[in-house]
Amino acid sequence: MKFLYFSIYMLIGMAALAQPCPIIPQPNSAKAITEEFTLTEGTVISYNGVEIQPLANFLQADLLKSVGQTAIIGKLRVSGGIHLELVKKLRAQTGEAYVLTVGRKGTTISATSSHGLFNGINSFLQLIRLGQKNAGKKTIRIAGWEINDEPRFEWRGILLDESRHFFGMSTVKELLDWMAFYKLNKFHWHLTDEPAWRIEIKSYPKLTQVGSTGSFDDPLAPANYYTQEQIKEIVAYAGARFIDVIPEIDMPGHAAAANRAYPAFSGGGSSKHPEFTFNPGLDTTYRYLSSILREADALFPSNMVHIGGDEVSFGNEKWNSILEVKKLMNSQRLRDLIAVEHYFSARMADTLYKLNNKVLLWDEAADTNLPRDKTQIFWWRHDHPEQLKKALDKGFATVLCPRLPFYFDFKQDSTQRYGRTWGKAFVSLDKLYGFNLNDLQLSEKQQSHILGVQAGIWTEFIPSKAKLQYMLFPRITALAETGWTQDARKDLQNFYNRVAMHSRLYREAGIYYYERQNPKLTPEPLTPEQITDPARAQQ
Ligand code: ACM
Repeated sequence: MKFLYFSIYMLIGMAALAQPCPIIPQPNSAKAITEEFTLTEGTVISYNGVEIQPLANFLQADLLKSVGQTAIIGKLRVSGGIHLELVKKLRAQTGEAYVLTVGRKGTTISATSSHGLFNGINSFLQLIRLGQKNAGKKTIRIAGWEINDEPRFEWRGILLDESRHFFGMSTVKELLDWMAFYKLNKFHWHLTDEPAWRIEIKSYPKLTQVGSTGSFDDPLAPANYYTQEQIKEIVAYAGARFIDVIPEIDMPGHAAAANRAYPAFSGGGSSKHPEFTFNPGLDTTYRYLSSILREADALFPSNMVHIGGDEVSFGNEKWNSILEVKKLMNSQRLRDLIAVEHYFSARMADTLYKLNNKVLLWDEAADTNLPRDKTQIFWWRHDHPEQLKKALDKGFATVLCPRLPFYFDFKQDSTQRYGRTWGKAFVSLDKLYGFNLNDLQLSEKQQSHILGVQAGIWTEFIPSKAKLQYMLFPRITALAETGWTQDARKDLQNFYNRVAMHSRLYREAGIYYYERQNPKLTPEPLTPEQITDPARAQQ
């Protein structure tokens, strides 16, 4: 059966080569037809159920915003219009699948779920925005297509670190807009870390009163955080785009900002990472963190909270000399600090399981025996493939986000001055595009536990919105296609051609994107030192 699908994909793929489909991520089946669809002022958008009316509204608003056309929402399907159709069954199995037919008689988008329809709408919007002939005219004509599509992976995410640098509501909304456009569906929001704490917690107001000042390169940077009302607004905005928002409240390490606010719960740190940990020996620490997690859970309907668990060894050496930690080790028969770490994670995870949440953790937690049906692992250490295999062998649902090639704080080529490297390795567009599960040498059983892929926008080297855009565009396209499109449908040259088409959209949106073929056209944005240098800031 698999082979049959593969053959069908290949055949359709060859047919599509005749006329490249401009959509990113490339649909898993797309056939050009020799018809055209015409969008004019007054084209009718109809739909077959009241529950999908918001999708008709979304499409109408986006057509107006992106190409200046006013479509009309109507009750009845009309010839030449756009019809959204919720159906009982499609050939494809997943709820996110959709069928999009674009032709002379109109456009139809069918799916078994609203999410599927939303995916189809975004493919259609890409066709309109990329394929329009007579741009700027009152009538837009686009080529006809028959598209049958569904995602390869259910988890297609982006992490944004707003502790190191804070970007704020409008930048986050823009990111969510582009994620939706590229069918990315998970937003992992890294809100707490060493430089600052960015989420309002009403039961512990000092977390933001004290902990939200500072950034990675400026300990005196003004306070910046999201109020609970703002978080609700972002969650709703994401929800309207079928994106789940997952907060990360990192513990027991990466806790320095919280410890500035409430030093009573600090477990100390190291010379490089002062006050890095929470104190795992105090009952009050667990009560404190449980209150925080309960408030966070109430803001995020995804029912998933990421509690980090990474790099605890960077700053837990003081635990050896804390009396309460020693007592804990005796009473719980914990042999070493790793055992303490696992005890801590299990206890915090319990708080979330009781709230019916899934608990998400970095790959250090592959060494724990947390319940596999309620726990997800994020494999980030590309230099520790054994952690991935361990997580999969234990049956943990696992997201792939290995630093190389999924961390977007890495430089993209050798000309870039300010960014992360690993030896001589960069994260270029083709490295990410070429990511292939086969290279990981996993068994079919191991692969069955892989949920999907995720990029990490860590922001130590991203001090401004321009730099954020430069590091994200166009790599977001390679991420999207790696998460959505089957390997047999991927083709680097064809992808580059489509990226060039999408670059026009970035220019139109005023996005400061990295130009792969000629990086000199888009010089790297300023570093923090340059930003604070008055002579340079004038430029
Ligand atoms: C990580 O990059 N420390 C998860």
